[in-house]
Amino acid sequence: MALQESTGLDVYQTYFEPTTYLGYYKMGQNPVGDDVLQFSLKHYNATFKPGGLRGKLLIDIGSGPTIYQLLSACESFEEIIATDYTDKNRLELEKWLKKMPGAFDWSPVVKYVCELEGDRDKWAEKEERLRRTVRRVLKCDVGKERPLEPAVLPLADCLLSSLCLESACGTLEAFRDALRHLRPLLRPRGHLVLTGSFDCTFYMVGDSRFTVLPLKEKVLREVLQESGFTIERLEKAQRGPETVLEKCSDYTGLFFLVAQKND
Ligand SMILES: C[S@@+](CC[C@H](N)C(=O)[O-])C[C@H]1O[C@@H](n2cnc3c(N)ncnc32)[C@H](O)[C@@H]1O
Repeated sequence: MALQESTGLDVYQTYFEPTTYLGYYKMGQNPVGDDVLQFSLKHYNATFKPGGLRGKLLIDIGSGPTIYQLLSACESFEEIIATDYTDKNRLELEKWLKKMPGAFDWSPVVKYVCELEGDRDKWAEKEERLRRTVRRVLKCDVGKERPLEPAVLPLADCLLSSLCLESACGTLEAFRDALRHLRPLLRPRGHLVLTGSFDCTFYMVGDSRFTVLPLKEKVLREVLQESGFTIERLEKAQRGPETVLEKCSDYTGLFFLVAQKND
């Protein structure tokens, strides 16, 4: 039985172990993590490079214990607010931000992004820039009408969310509600940068199995449109062939989309 199916249990808060999850992001050591990183980092780079999206405030929804999704955006946004549902994930993020002992080593990923940007040698500078740019790490629950309550924030120029909504939402209705809850955090004409997986029903973190809402492209497009967003770009990739033997998740592909909030 999947964990979420046991009633009344705060599954993420109880079972999601950030340090185990981070195993996916040891570059070159986990085919599924590499699949996600290679696909999404390429598109984050294209989205936030000079001439791309920029602004004052970017809010990352459901950051988990990871920072890879912010490595390009920290060059074009003045402030970033990271958020997650679980206490342990937020602590793990703080560990890296404050260079505390035992923090995850993101340097292979940071070097990879610097290489995409044209200068691998700037990786230490980029780490410092990201640490300066992430101003707060807040509690977030996309199931709530006001996901970041009690925090009061200025409207964001950009909302980013990676691999979170289909994990946090058990039904399409909950997915729709989450977008409705997030929309007021964004200024009119602001951008939503969303990444996720297609057809995924679960992923493993160690021995814990987390249920995922399986998404198809058609449904994804419909839900965004109904929620008041215009998709400007939708990039897709089939699951990498080197991941076929991996039993830790059943996704068939990945998406990366940029959408603009209407009005
Ligand atoms: C698969 S992880 C993704 C983490 C990270 N963004 C990444 O790209 O690897 C899913 C994340 O969604 C978060 N999450 C679960 N339920 C949530 C909720 N109701 N509101 C916000 N985040 C939630 C979890 O704590 C977890 O960090």
